[in-house]
Amino acid sequence: MGPAYRIVTPRLVIRCWQPQDAVKLKQAIDSSVEHLRAWLPWAVNEPEPLERKYERIRHWRGDFDLGLDFVYGVFDREEERVLGGTGLHNRVGFDAREIGYWVRADSIGRGFATEFSAALTRVAFEVDNLSRVEIHVVVGNERSATVPRKLGYVHEATLRRPHPGGGTPLYDTMIWTLFAEKYPGSPASAQAVEAYGFGGERLL
Ligand SMILES: CC(C)(COP(=O)(O)OP(=O)(O)OC[C@H]1O[C@@H](n2cnc3c(N)ncnc32)[C@H](O)[C@@H]1OP(=O)(O)O)[C@@H](O)C(=O)NCCC(=O)NCCS
Repeated sequence: MGPAYRIVTPRLVIRCWQPQDAVKLKQAIDSSVEHLRAWLPWAVNEPEPLERKYERIRHWRGDFDLGLDFVYGVFDREEERVLGGTGLHNRVGFDAREIGYWVRADSIGRGFATEFSAALTRVAFEVDNLSRVEIHVVVGNERSATVPRKLGYVHEATLRRPHPGGGTPLYDTMIWTLFAEKYPGSPASAQAVEAYGFGGERLL
């Protein structure tokens, strides 16, 4: 019945990016470059021109509409500020997705990553009916590892320098996993969420 285009939690709106978000996306990233560079390989290319942000949003939206990959913007409830970015990425095999995330520097430590990751976990299992969700965390990124730990994910393995592709550097990476059968009763399943489809129909 998915994908969920718009997801609402008590403090956040998590939705498919739109062209009019480009300026706010750029502001959020430009104000967070050092913070993001510490852990995200793509941030070495930041700050980048506004035209590039339009191009990225166009591709994210295209992939979203075609059901290829699901990159979301994270906003406050009024949708005035971009608080971060996340995704239900289609890159960890059949019947599974990977949640990735970042939060702008001035908004960390308020539980936003935990709140939107819980919401995406609910969407993955209850809307998309997947059997496994993963969160990958580079060894040493303790703030990030707190998120899957709090939501009931299990640290399944640490891969030594897995190859992420795209010519990015190789880091030892923790694989945190939640399976469909362990999802009911997990902290993630208790997150208050509304989810809406392409036509605005209620999914959750
Ligand atoms: C990782 C990131 C997304 C976390 O976002 P956030 O909104 O601050 O996360 P939350 O507030 O939901 O949770 C962070 C938790 O880490 C805890 N924490 C903060 N610093 C910590 C540290 N050095 N060691 C361990 N835990 C830490 C916080 O106390 C909080 O836990 P709590 O809610 O129990 O108090 C954000 O810091 C970020 O964007 N980092 C840069 C990009 C990045 O690392 N992305 C993840 C790639 S895997």
